[in-house]
Amino acid sequence: MRFFTGFLLAIACTAVHGHYTFPRLVVNGKPEAKDWSVTRMTKNVNSKSGVESVASGDIRCYQSKNADNITTIPAGATVHFISTQQVNHPGPFQFYLAKVPAGMSAQTWDGSGEVWFKFHTEMPAMTKDKQLTWPGQNEYKTTNATIPKSVPSGEYLLRVEHIALHLASAPNKAQFYLSCAQVKITGDGNGNPGPLVAFPGAYKTSDPGILINLGALATPDSYVPPGPAVWSG
Ligand SMILES: *[C@@H]1O[C@H](CO)[C@@H](O)[C@H](O)[C@H]1NC(C)=O
Ligand SMILES: *[C@@H]1O[C@H](CO)[C@@H](O)[C@H](O)[C@H]1NC(C)=O
Repeated sequence: MRFFTGFLLAIACTAVHGHYTFPRLVVNGKPEAKDWSVTRMTKNVNSKSGVESVASGDIRCYQSKNADNITTIPAGATVHFISTQQVNHPGPFQFYLAKVPAGMSAQTWDGSGEVWFKFHTEMPAMTKDKQLTWPGQNEYKTTNATIPKSVPSGEYLLRVEHIALHLASAPNKAQFYLSCAQVKITGDGNGNPGPLVAFPGAYKTSDPGILINLGALATPDSYVPPGPAVWSG
């Protein structure tokens, strides 16, 4: 009996230590008031486990509920998210935005349809001794991304993901850690962001950046991040 309890405890601890959520958006160094106030609470708030199926509706925002507030971001601002645990797995961070349709609100819109464009991918790098490294790995936050100055003003959902690739040589074993925040972008941007993709839909299980044996990745720039090209404004 004692062995059994210890065993369960060990499983529970592994789950929490290995995994993470992104409950708080930081804009130009200023964090949102408290966890999940503009960032939509995710279903893994307790388990901290990632999404493994790219076909699941959870791949979009993984949300259990909408957030109460919307935060303002000037176009051109630097954003990142705080992580509840160390982002201990190797893999890229990516950032997306989806414009809220006219007449709807970032507080209630579900982000469905081909509406998401990517504005940042954090690629791997190589150390002097030829070790592949992933920027942001082992930090308690995501990497930074800049909202392009030419993003048109208005309400958006801002989606961040970290794709943990340590088990990704088997299908459906990459783990997606992600959050969506409710934001209002200000400025006089007049760009035309794209290409636009849907979640689910943007990724396939077999994408080379999702089904991948990291040990076989020869150079950082041979990593092919999933999803559309980055729109840089
Ligand atoms: C990330 O952005 C914050 C401001 O939000 C800044 O303080 C920090 O220096 C930036 N980090 C990097 C690596 O650029
Ligand atoms: C929403 O934002 C307002 C104004 O910034 C703030 O007073 C309030 O505490 C926020 N509510 C939540 C739930 O974060």
